Amino acid sequence: MNNLLNRTRAAVWHPCTQMKALEAAPPLAIARGEGAWLIDTDGRRYLDAISSWWVNLFGHCNPRINAAIVDQLGKIEHVMLAGATHAPVVELSERLAALTGLGHAFYGSDGASATEIALKMSAHYWRNSGQPAKNGFISLRNGYHGETVGALSVTDIPLFKDTYAPLLRHTVQVPTPDARLAEPGESAEAFALRCADALEAYLAEHAATTAAFIVEPLLQAAAGMAMYHPVYLSRARALCDQYEVHLIADEIAVGFGRTGTMFACEQAPPLSPAGAGIQTVRPDFICLSKGITGGYLPLSAVLTTDEVYAAFYGDATAKGFLHSHSYTGNPLACRAALAVLDIFETDRVIAANREKSTEFTRILAEVAAHPRVLNFRALGMIWAFEVADATPGFAAHFHWLALAQGVFIRPIGNTVYLMPPYVTSSDAMRGVAQTLLTGLDQREI
Ligand SMILES: Cc1ncc(COP(=O)(O)O)c(C=O)c1O
Repeated sequence: MNNLLNRTRAAVWHPCTQMKALEAAPPLAIARGEGAWLIDTDGRRYLDAISSWWVNLFGHCNPRINAAIVDQLGKIEHVMLAGATHAPVVELSERLAALTGLGHAFYGSDGASATEIALKMSAHYWRNSGQPAKNGFISLRNGYHGETVGALSVTDIPLFKDTYAPLLRHTVQVPTPDARLAEPGESAEAFALRCADALEAYLAEHAATTAAFIVEPLLQAAAGMAMYHPVYLSRARALCDQYEVHLIADEIAVGFGRTGTMFACEQAPPLSPAGAGIQTVRPDFICLSKGITGGYLPLSAVLTTDEVYAAFYGDATAKGFLHSHSYTGNPLACRAALAVLDIFETDRVIAANREKSTEFTRILAEVAAHPRVLNFRALGMIWAFEVADATPGFAAHFHWLALAQGVFIRPIGNTVYLMPPYVTSSDAMRGVAQTLLTGLDQREI
């Protein structure tokens, strides 16, 4: 194992990592995975309580996803998607369209590439529609949409953004409805509506130069699992309609059941009783990635409306969406995604997770009641809380303490969160709860 750690430090530049820190804190050397568990090269087991950067849904080495990929390997591993097509990408596009109410799936690789695609498509739509001045973007304060240059321009996390500020395009951030920021006595809903007023004030002045508002529905994950009232989405949709600005739903982290519905936007309430029963928020673009392949292979997709698609359709080449990535619509990744959708259907995952979510919240009740725990919150298969009196090195210390007890978690600042694979058992969750309690009792971290 030491050999592997030395070699990784010499040969691999790890993501989002100050490499010098690996001298004191080497990465886990993982040999294999089994359901919700990661197993290192010494045979030690760790519960993957954050689903390997929020991508894993149905466990590591899932037999059904494995089988789909193996089957596809015997057919075609990859073919470029310009000038060719294949059954997995067509079937996946049809099924995603049926699930989202959007269509014309355009594929990328990682989440950030989906953000880039949505931003470019939106601005290009307005250009094709004779309004080239509509090329500005709005996002939420503390939002995160990826770290390529375009995506970073609409991201608002100083640690990731400030260094690259000279490279980035100017964008505007409007107040986040993060419920933790509500005034004392103000409900999450009232606060969300107040924040939507700020969005309206901006749109009222700048709609003529604004292409789109990009938002992480219900949960700003990288901001520290900030949750907000779904009425914000309903208002944002209504305002984007009123001011003719696209709404881009970045469901990269929250899509595929994470918040309790297949897509987070589904939870937006109607703004009047007359709208009950009708899906209130259909974004103009939806960005999907992470869980789409169950955490197996890099794949992202952007789906949009017929209206957007039609604005690109014509005889002029430059009017088309001339954007590409070599691995666009990779057949192996699409087969993994199809296997994931099959599991959702056959195992009735959304309904099963509803019970699991309630059960896990019950298991975490003692954690929620711990005197150091602030803002304990749960949404679907996500749990988070802040830790009072955390030391400056809290995140690293808590991570190591949990690891020693067989739980893989990575707090964001003083926010501890769990985003486990959906196959996590109640017993495993009881173990996580014990680990969290042990960590919270260590006053010195
Ligand atoms: C909401 C959201 N958008 C975009 C991204 C970027 O995805 P990727 O890391 O795959 O580029 C992330 C990643 O965490 C995310 O949470």
